[in-house]
Amino acid sequence: MEKSRAVLFDAYGTLFDVYSVALLAEQLFPGQGQRLSTLWRDKQIEYTRLVTTSNHGAHYQPFWALTQSALAYAIKVVAPAARQDWTAFEARAAQLLNQYRSLSAFPENREVLQALRARGLPTGILSNGDPDMLGIAVRSAGLDGLLDHVISADPVRLYKTHPAAYALGEKALGLPASQIVFVSSNAWDALAATWYGYQTLWVNRQNMPFEELGTQPTRTGHSLRDVLAFFD
Ligand code: LAC
Repeated sequence: MEKSRAVLFDAYGTLFDVYSVALLAEQLFPGQGQRLSTLWRDKQIEYTRLVTTSNHGAHYQPFWALTQSALAYAIKVVAPAARQDWTAFEARAAQLLNQYRSLSAFPENREVLQALRARGLPTGILSNGDPDMLGIAVRSAGLDGLLDHVISADPVRLYKTHPAAYALGEKALGLPASQIVFVSSNAWDALAATWYGYQTLWVNRQNMPFEELGTQPTRTGHSLRDVLAFFD
């Protein structure tokens, strides 16, 4: 393995705790919070793939728009009444979207980012999130000043796992992927980044199996702290 010279992080689920919305979802849709938040997340990712792979990107929409549409879908699954009368659900959708805009960061983030900085390593986010969303999320999580780059896939209008999105990380850092550690808690993202050529850390926060497609990430861990092992 080549020397690791920089670190890029996925945003949602990796730095920002998307699963924390399940608590609010449970208050708003009693007995359905977990299901709603999982459906929301899965549909959001499905929509990124749909617009990236269909019709040469003609149906591209920014990640925030897909996030809103995915929530509407998920609510209509768990609360079928919303299919007839969406207005009765609008306020609850707005509350969930508000929470999603300013997600909390995982507790170890700051110390890990500071430790990487102390070693002089460039750091950044490489995310499907659009620039507005990422800016708000970084600020509300108190991570501003700790990241050198906040890279959004939005300028290429192609979402990860498209190689054009992963290429943005190499371009911003001026390094080949083989010298960059890419960190994601999303198994599909860690897998595709490995295929692309990054050194990878899969942060298995949900205690899940890895993807069964024959490729393993460079390392697997359970918290962001495990990225420091690349630099021992
Ligand atoms: C991100 C989502 C997909 O790119 O986790 O930040």
